[in-house]
Amino acid sequence: MAKICLCLTGKTIKRNLEILNKYRKFTDMAELRVDCLDPDERLHIRRFPELAGIPVILTIRRDIDGGYFTGGEGARVKLLANGLAYANADSRLNFAYVDIEEDFQVPSLEEAARTFGTRIIRSCHILNDLIEDIPAKMKSMRHAGDEIVKMAVSVKSTRDVKRVFQASKSFTGQDKIMVCMGHYGIYSRILAERFGSFLTYTSALSENTAIGAPGQMDVRELAELYRFRKITKKTKVYGVVGNPLKASVSPWFFNTVFALENNDAVYVPFPVNSIRDFFVIAKGLDVQGLSITVPFKEAVLPELSRNSEVVGSVGACNTIHRTNEGWYGDNTDCAGFSASLLEFLGRKNLKFKKVTIIGAGGVSRAVASEIFRMGGKAIVLNRTVHKARNIALKYNFRWGGLDENGIEMMSKYSDVIIQTSSVGMEGYEADDPLELYSFTGKEAVMDLIYTPAETPFLKRAAAAGCRTINGFDMVIRQACMQYSNFFGKDIPQKNLLQINSLGANTWNKIRST
Ligand code: ATR
Repeated sequence: MAKICLCLTGKTIKRNLEILNKYRKFTDMAELRVDCLDPDERLHIRRFPELAGIPVILTIRRDIDGGYFTGGEGARVKLLANGLAYANADSRLNFAYVDIEEDFQVPSLEEAARTFGTRIIRSCHILNDLIEDIPAKMKSMRHAGDEIVKMAVSVKSTRDVKRVFQASKSFTGQDKIMVCMGHYGIYSRILAERFGSFLTYTSALSENTAIGAPGQMDVRELAELYRFRKITKKTKVYGVVGNPLKASVSPWFFNTVFALENNDAVYVPFPVNSIRDFFVIAKGLDVQGLSITVPFKEAVLPELSRNSEVVGSVGACNTIHRTNEGWYGDNTDCAGFSASLLEFLGRKNLKFKKVTIIGAGGVSRAVASEIFRMGGKAIVLNRTVHKARNIALKYNFRWGGLDENGIEMMSKYSDVIIQTSSVGMEGYEADDPLELYSFTGKEAVMDLIYTPAETPFLKRAAAAGCRTINGFDMVIRQACMQYSNFFGKDIPQKNLLQINSLGANTWNKIRST
């Protein structure tokens, strides 16, 4: 089973030990990054394994490999030799591993490591262009049979992740560490077991010493939320596909549910930039079900073998699960949205209600079809007017731009205003998509964004006296429906109550730490 390795990047031995002690219960081993230590602290590394009390990797990462060691190779060899010197008969007092690069050429040091039971991690860091033949590279790096081969690749795309994953699959028979560094590689760290990696590197992200490789996960989050140590070959993999995905509540929601019901399943964020390349990886990872979010709700359609009626009518899909015939697609945005809206309005339908829909993307489509189904009349306003028109024509609604003309038309459609665009969402512009409109205070206003909890638009509506709601309630409702899609049953009521009692506050607290 893959191990959790905590990277210690503090400036002093004392600070590193403090951090290790704080997070000890979440970690199986540690990596002492000697290159991050103050120069005079580097003289005292020999006793670190004894003080740490768990297996430790000795690493002095050069700046050309993404580390902080800027001295000459002679000085580095001396430091490494210091760390490995005076080997103790009790191997727990020695470094368990030493990380040396593929071009490291000091046979006497390697010999010493082997003699005293320090296992060599033979590493290759690819920070710029991905080499063509990764498996060949891995083979050529192999020095002795007991070495661990490590490929740390800075991935710039889902295609890069796919190549690392495929390389890992084709390189068998020897322990290896496969790391996809960067935003697109995050799931390779959570699913290290499936990526065939001997360990996953983590940081204590809430400590200000954390300066590890890009994309490293927080050790507590990995161990507690993702239950990393319980992920085995049998664990069923689910997740959310989107980009940038930073603000998705789904990993928190599903993993909390899985833990409550003791379900051998994990739910992983899959930030991707190519849905095609991702589906090759998903097959290899044996992913069972996925939530699909911005910007892939339409792009996923060609990958489906069948879909529900609602996907057909809305033209967007936010949930897929694996069947014998291929991926089956559904859309739970629709039902989640209407349930949340009707409860907010205290109504059973939208008869005689005039509604403004802002935005004309995938979510807007689902919203428009639901407003129509519930008997409401609407206007769709969007920055790109022809997209608003395409949606509106389908339901005999009106349409317009987010300009004076559009605002004038919408004044007759302002019982309910529903904001579906990405404006105001964390990671996008913090603008107000309806800045030309003055609220009267009588409108019921729903913004489907929930990170932040209050967008500038929703704040302005509330300040004008409008009743407001954000998208958190809807997202939880649609996630419950996704769960039913994945597992063919509803979330047990007592678990749902427990999640709801944790609610938005817990979620926002998790996000802010
Ligand atoms: P989703 O699936 O969440 O609806 P989407 O399909 O990418 O996401 O749609 C995003 C919506 O936000 C679109 O309506 C988009 O307007 P355009 O159709 O003109 O692109 C809207 N949007 C994004 N950025 C915007 C901005 N700066 N101002 C106004 N609207 C914006």
